[in-house]
Amino acid sequence: MASTVIKGGTVVTADLSHAADVKIEGGVITEIGQNLKGDRVLDATGCYIMPGGIDPHTHLEMPFMGTYSADDFESGTRAALAGGTTMVVDFVLPGQGQGLMDAAQMWHNKSGRAHCDYSYHMAVTWWGEKVWEDMAESVKAGITSFKHFLAYKGALMVNDDELFASFRRVGDLGGLAMVHAENGDVVAELTAKLLAEGNRGPEAHAYSRPPQVEGEATNRAIMIADMAGVPLYVVHVSCEEAHEAIRRARQAGKRVWGEPLIQHLTLDESEYFHPDWDHAARRVMSPPFRSKDHQASLWAGLQSGSLSVVATDHCSFTTEQKRFGMGDFSKIPNGTGGLEDRLPMLWTHGVGTGRLTPNEFVAVTSTNIAKILNLYPKKGAVLVGADADLVVWDPKAEKVITAGTQQSAIDYNVFEGHKVAGLPRFTLSRGHVSVTEGKVDSREGHGRFVGREARPAVNRALSQWKELTAPRPVTRTGVPATGV
Ligand code: URP
Ligand code: ZN
Ligand code: ZN
Ligand code: ZN
Repeated sequence: MASTVIKGGTVVTADLSHAADVKIEGGVITEIGQNLKGDRVLDATGCYIMPGGIDPHTHLEMPFMGTYSADDFESGTRAALAGGTTMVVDFVLPGQGQGLMDAAQMWHNKSGRAHCDYSYHMAVTWWGEKVWEDMAESVKAGITSFKHFLAYKGALMVNDDELFASFRRVGDLGGLAMVHAENGDVVAELTAKLLAEGNRGPEAHAYSRPPQVEGEATNRAIMIADMAGVPLYVVHVSCEEAHEAIRRARQAGKRVWGEPLIQHLTLDESEYFHPDWDHAARRVMSPPFRSKDHQASLWAGLQSGSLSVVATDHCSFTTEQKRFGMGDFSKIPNGTGGLEDRLPMLWTHGVGTGRLTPNEFVAVTSTNIAKILNLYPKKGAVLVGADADLVVWDPKAEKVITAGTQQSAIDYNVFEGHKVAGLPRFTLSRGHVSVTEGKVDSREGHGRFVGREARPAVNRALSQWKELTAPRPVTRTGVPATGV
C-alpha cells in the first residue's frame, strides 16, 4: 500500500502543538513521529498540520424560496477543499407531508457527487405520527441531529407544541436538537408592516429581523430543550441577545452550544446600505449581518468558550436568483456563500489579530463540532487511526478573495476584495491530496457519507439526570395510597 508522509511541519490540534511528521496509509493516519519515511513526501516546512475543517452547516442544492441554492455537492465540496475544509454536514429538508427517509434518499441522490466526506442533519419541517416514527429510522441510518426552524412562517417553521414534542423525541432517541432561532411570527408581522410602509429594499430584510427576534427565540428554544431533557445546538448565532441566552444557559449547566458564522464575524450591517441593489441583496441572509458591537460579542464568545463552532451556512444564490426579490425584499432568496473562505477569513481575522490561538482555531473549525456530532476522533483529530482529513496550513501564504478565481458556482463573493493571510498548502481528503497551493486535483464522488451513532456521553448524562430528578408522587402517611 503506497504511503504518504507530511514532513517538516508542526502538528497543531485543539490542545497541542508539536513538531512531527505524519504518515498516511489507506486513507488513515498510521504514524506520528520523527524522521518518518514514505513513498510520497509532502513538504510542510513553515506550515501547520491541522485537522481539516468541518463545516457543520451547509445547504447544497437546497430547494428554498422558489428556487435551488446554486452550489451543489460537486461545486460546494470542491470549494470546501480549496479552503481547507474536508467535511460538510448538510440539512435534509423533507417537504410538507414527506417522510424523513424519502427525503434522506433525495439527499443521497444529490450527494454522490461530493469531493469530500459529508454527513447530514435531519430537519423537522412538519409534525405528525409519521415524523415521530421516522425519527427513529433516521437515527438508525446515522442521521442523529434534528434541526427545527422557528422562522420561515408558512414554510419551514414549527410551533412550540411541535417543538416540545420533537425535542422530547430527539432526547429519547439520544440525538441532538438543533434550532434556527428567530421568532417567525414577529418577523412576518414586521415584514408586512415594512412593505406596507414602502420599505421594499434589501435593507428592510435586516429591519424585519432585529436582534430581539433572535434573542427571544434562542431563549425559548433553550428553555424548551431543558424541559425536554435534550442537548441543544443553536445555529447561526449573530447577536449579543442570542449569545447572552446561550452564555446564561451554559453558566447554569445546560448543554447548549452556539455557532456563529464567519460572515457575521467579519461583515456588518453597513453592507445593506450599499447604493447598489445587487451588492446589498447578495448579502441578504437570516439572521442578517449586525452592528460591530454584535460582532465583538461573537468574537468574545469564541475567545471565552461560550460559543463553540464557526460555520458558514453556505447557501449560495446567483445575482439572477437574488433579483427575484427586486421590489419586494421578502422574495430575495436568503443565503450567502463562504465554504472556501471560512478558514482563511477566520485565520486572518482571528489568529492574525491575536483574538484566537492556532489551537483555538482548530477547536472552533473542526474538533469541537466533531465531538458535538459524535464524529471524533474519526474526524477532527490528528491521531493514529483517524481519517487523514488534513490541511497543511501555510500561515504566510496570501491572496485577495475574488469571485473570478473561486470554486463556487456563483458570480460574486461576499468577501470580495478581502486580503487573507493563511491558506492551505495542501488539503487531504482521506489521504488523497485534493488541493496543492490553490490547484484542485480532486475526483467527483470521492466523498463518502459518514453516519453517526446516537447517545454520546452528554445524552447519557442528561437522561440520567432527568431520570433522577423526574417528578414523583409524594408518599404520604395517614391517607389512602392513591396519590391524592
Ligand atoms: O439565510 C439563510 N440562513 N439561508 C439558509 C437557510 C437557513 O436559514 O439556514
Ligand atoms: Zn437557518
Ligand atoms: Zn442554514
Ligand atoms: Zn477582511
